[in-house]
Amino acid sequence: MCLKLIFVEIQIFMTENDFIPSSYLSAIQEGEVTYKSPSNIALVKYWGKRENQIPANPSISFTLNACATTTTVSFEKKKISSAEFSFDLWFEGNQKESFKPKINVFLGRIEKYLPFLKDFHFIINTSNSFPHSSGIASSASGMSALALCFMEIERKLNPEMTDSFFNKKASFLARLGSGSACRSIEGNLVQWGQHEDTEGSSDLYGIKYPYQVHDIFKNYHDTILLVDKGQKQVSSTVGHDLMHQHLFAKNRFAQAHENLSKLKIIFSEGNLASFIEIVESEALTLHAMMMTSLPYFMLMKPNTLKIINEIWAFRAASETQICFTLDAGANVHVLYPENEKEKVYPFIKEKLVPLCENGSHITDRIGFGAQKIGYLSDT
Ligand code: DP6
Repeated sequence: MCLKLIFVEIQIFMTENDFIPSSYLSAIQEGEVTYKSPSNIALVKYWGKRENQIPANPSISFTLNACATTTTVSFEKKKISSAEFSFDLWFEGNQKESFKPKINVFLGRIEKYLPFLKDFHFIINTSNSFPHSSGIASSASGMSALALCFMEIERKLNPEMTDSFFNKKASFLARLGSGSACRSIEGNLVQWGQHEDTEGSSDLYGIKYPYQVHDIFKNYHDTILLVDKGQKQVSSTVGHDLMHQHLFAKNRFAQAHENLSKLKIIFSEGNLASFIEIVESEALTLHAMMMTSLPYFMLMKPNTLKIINEIWAFRAASETQICFTLDAGANVHVLYPENEKEKVYPFIKEKLVPLCENGSHITDRIGFGAQKIGYLSDT
């Protein structure tokens, strides 16, 4: 009983060293694993990080459902051991050499935590449910799907692993690929980053939101309006970096902490007016940080602003609780509760979709996290 309690404590306050395995109980030669992992949309934004993918402030996101990456990793023990990572990478049916350097960096970062990586040759086969050139970042769903596949292999090597440890370590590894990816393992609300009002929160991995969430947030809709499908002028990595010397950084990081504390009551009471205020303010603050960094940049496009104004006018006229959020780009995520979809969706179709590039949009909603699609092995 006493030992059990100590184990639970260790599970709650995990450090980086807790993710380094001491030894493996089993051996495997070859196999194949497939995971489908969703994208997520932040309500309180992660923007700014320290070394080793440690966020400058805590963030929270809705896990999505339709926008997802499916990744299959086939693996075979190397005949002759080598000091290099060995893998082939396929993206939507084509071998993709240009993606390999990013994966190589990711493998280098996670090797310490998955010491078996150099023992195998991997064939990584990945595809997205959304078009690659949609302006939707695939790093969250892509890195989380890959992290989950590697974790499934580790689970075969250590069958005693608990589900809780599996999820935490998958999130921990995904974070090392892309920060926001650590919020894509579980659903439906995930918080990442140490926050004094959130028990169990950590800079190292995302946790399923541990407090009460009102039914109004169940099945919440996110219609993603693809305003500009082009390549972003500034990558997230560069944007995060610019927060280091940013004049407003300190206040911005403090604001994220405050917004998370406020959301605790809002989530439990289902107060949508206050929810909207925080979510829209967070989106605009993110872009305000971009516009006030040095060098400054702007990712919103004229139609992004037109859409925001249309949403505000419709909200006032219809008394619905439609609102928007933005990621690091021109696209707009339109959020609304399930019980308003009959009123809101026709408005989106009529007024907002014509403002999208070729009318492109994705109807998505809050989702429940990644899914294992299959595992095949020699044993
Ligand atoms: C604006 O997770 O893409 O979407 O850690 O450098 O890979 P890296 O950054 P990334 O940043 C996402 C930023 C954001 C806000 C958010 O998702 O919280």
